[in-house]
Amino acid sequence: MSDFFTDSFGRPLNYLRLAVTDRCNLRCFYCMPAEGIDYVDRKDLLSYEEMLRLTRIFVSLGVNKIRLTGGEPFVRRNFYGFLKRLTKIEGLDKIAITTNGAVASKHIPFLKEIGITSINLSLDTLNKDRYTQITRRDFFDQAMETYHAVLAAGIKLSVNMVVMEGKNIEDIVPMAMLTKNDNVTVRFIEEMPFNGIGARYTIGFNHKKILETLKEDLPELAPIPFKDGTTAQEYTIDGYKGKIGIIAAYTRTFCGSCNRIRVTATGEMKNCLYDQGVLNLKRMLSDGSSDQMICEAIKAGYSKKLKDGREAEAARMTSVSESMSSIGG
Ligand code: 5AD
Ligand code: SF4
Repeated sequence: MSDFFTDSFGRPLNYLRLAVTDRCNLRCFYCMPAEGIDYVDRKDLLSYEEMLRLTRIFVSLGVNKIRLTGGEPFVRRNFYGFLKRLTKIEGLDKIAITTNGAVASKHIPFLKEIGITSINLSLDTLNKDRYTQITRRDFFDQAMETYHAVLAAGIKLSVNMVVMEGKNIEDIVPMAMLTKNDNVTVRFIEEMPFNGIGARYTIGFNHKKILETLKEDLPELAPIPFKDGTTAQEYTIDGYKGKIGIIAAYTRTFCGSCNRIRVTATGEMKNCLYDQGVLNLKRMLSDGSSDQMICEAIKAGYSKKLKDGREAEAARMTSVSESMSSIGG
């Protein structure tokens, strides 16, 4: 559509990713150190009121899809009450949530009832011991309960698996096999350096290797045309109910059509996972700025969106070291 506000590359501003907390009940090693995590002061988090106001402002600019991330969104107090109010905002066609599923399973029917449109479940293995090793917590059974509850409720489900050499390569094919009988999109994600301790590696298992590994067991994998604004190259297998996706999150092959805007739990607006923030919205939400002023600031910030994640990373003052939980996945 032509009436969206676009950046200098013509990419429409219609999709917002909002982190509702930086706290999490897991300690996935690719996201956080085991201990010594500096959570921000609660007073520095956006309040629900501020998030609702901000969402209305983004909707007035053309945003029609929102994804709630964290940290783990379901650990923030009264998240359900917030969701209920969010679903009342006119103009939001899609409300998606990214969760680790550890404490969400019982509430899935409620999410369906209020109109949550899709859930991305972080699940890096189907093996309980490896799950505990990767997440440093024992919530495998709960995560699987959430998996089944989402399917049963008929909410669109994607599973995110971060692929890590030496940790879960043997899980790639079993995870893909979930798509045989379940209506789920299983997405394999290249590991990125957002682990809270800085870039400690060069990527071992990239998107090409993931595809090769899949093809060894599933040679019938058929690619579907890439959809602009998405990140996954998707594949189908004849007769399978679900889909398989590969996300080159580190190699960054998909940036050309990326129109994501992120707002962190502390209200920092980011045009890219790899940038250091372009606008402090928390300040504007509390200093008496009008909605109109915030709109203009968001537009100015979005106009600065760089061509791709490589440029965004190159423009940084310091190297990548933040935790995904502080950015909002
Ligand atoms: N690299 C790749 N993906 C990551 N995620 C979290 N940290 C990383 C990382 N370092 C993903 C998780 C989760 C989503 C929020 O982000 O799989 O699904
Ligand atoms: Fe929590 Fe998600 Fe980070 Fe794991 S990846 S520690 S579930 S925020």
